[in-house]
Amino acid sequence: MENQPYIVVDNITQQFGQQVVLDGVSFEVKKGELLALIGGSGAGKSVILKHLVGLLDPLSGKVLINGLQMSNVPEREKAKLRARIGFMFQNGALFDSMNVFDNVAFPLREQGVKDKKELESRVESALAAVELTGHEDKMPANLSGGMIKRVAVARAMVSSPECLLYDEPTAGLDPVVSDSVSYMIRRICVAQQITTLIVTHDMSSVVHMADRVIFLERGRVQWTGTPLQLIETESLPLKNFIMGSSGENWESLHREPRPDFQKELIHEALKERYQTER
Ligand SMILES: Nc1ncnc2c1ncn2[C@@H]1O[C@H](COP(=O)(O)OP(=O)(O)OP(=O)(O)O)[C@@H](O)[C@H]1O
Ligand SMILES: [Mg+2]
Repeated sequence: MENQPYIVVDNITQQFGQQVVLDGVSFEVKKGELLALIGGSGAGKSVILKHLVGLLDPLSGKVLINGLQMSNVPEREKAKLRARIGFMFQNGALFDSMNVFDNVAFPLREQGVKDKKELESRVESALAAVELTGHEDKMPANLSGGMIKRVAVARAMVSSPECLLYDEPTAGLDPVVSDSVSYMIRRICVAQQITTLIVTHDMSSVVHMADRVIFLERGRVQWTGTPLQLIETESLPLKNFIMGSSGENWESLHREPRPDFQKELIHEALKERYQTER
C-alpha cells in the first residue's frame, strides 16, 4: 500500500527499574515525510529511536517499520531490516582509528559490499552530498566538529536507506554550520524521498526543515502539528520549550532591556520558510 506510513509507533511503553520512560507513545511517520521529535532532556527521545531500530523492544505496544513488526522479527532478519534504516546516534561518534573514507564505507562493508569500485563510488557520492569531497584521508581527530557531524550524516545515508533517523545532528555546532547540516538533511530527504525522523533541540532548524513536529513530555506525545501551528501554540510547556524559557526572572538581572534572540531566530526562520513556500 503506497499510503501506509513507513513508521508506526503504537502505544509503546518502556520502563527501566522503577522509572517509566515511555508511557504509551504513539505516532506515525509517512513515507518521505520529515518528522521532528522534540522534548526536554531525559524525555525519552533517544529511547524511542532505539525502539525503531530494534535495539530495544517495547514492554507493550508495537513498532512497525514498513508494515513489519520489529519485535516479532528474528535476530537475523532484524539485521536486514536495520540495514534499510540509517541511524545517526546522539554524539554520532566516528571510529577514531579509521579515516573518513573507511568510516563512511563501514556500513557497506558490514552489508557485504566488497567490490572496490562500487565502494568507492557510493562513498564518494555520500561524501559529495555532505560537501566533503577531498577529505577522504583525514582522521577524525583532524576534523572540525561540523565535519564530524557531516561524516556521520554521510555514514548514515551511504547504504541508500529507505529511512533515516538522526539524534541531535546539530548539537554543539555553530549556528551557521548547524543551518548547513540541517539543510543537507532536508535536501537528502526531499531529493531521495527518504522517510526522516530527527530529534533536535534546535528550534530554528525545526521550523526550517520539519513537515511535522511531535512534542514528547512525561512519556507521552503531548502535541503534534506543523511548524506554523507549533509557533502559534497556546500550550505553556510547549511555548516555554520552544522559546527556551525556564521561567527565571531575567529582567531583574538586566541593566537594560535585551532582545530575545531565540524568538527572533524562530520568527526569522518562519518568515523565510512560509514566504518562500506560499
Ligand atoms: N538502558 C537504560 N537503562 C536505564 N535507564 C535508561 C536507559 N536508557 C535510557 N534510560 C533513561 O531513560 C530516560 C530517557 O533517556 P533518553 O536518552 O531517551 O533521553 P532524551 O530524551 O534522549 O534526552 P536528551 O535530550 O538529553 O538526549 C533517562 O532518564 C535515561 O537515564
Ligand atoms: Mg537523547
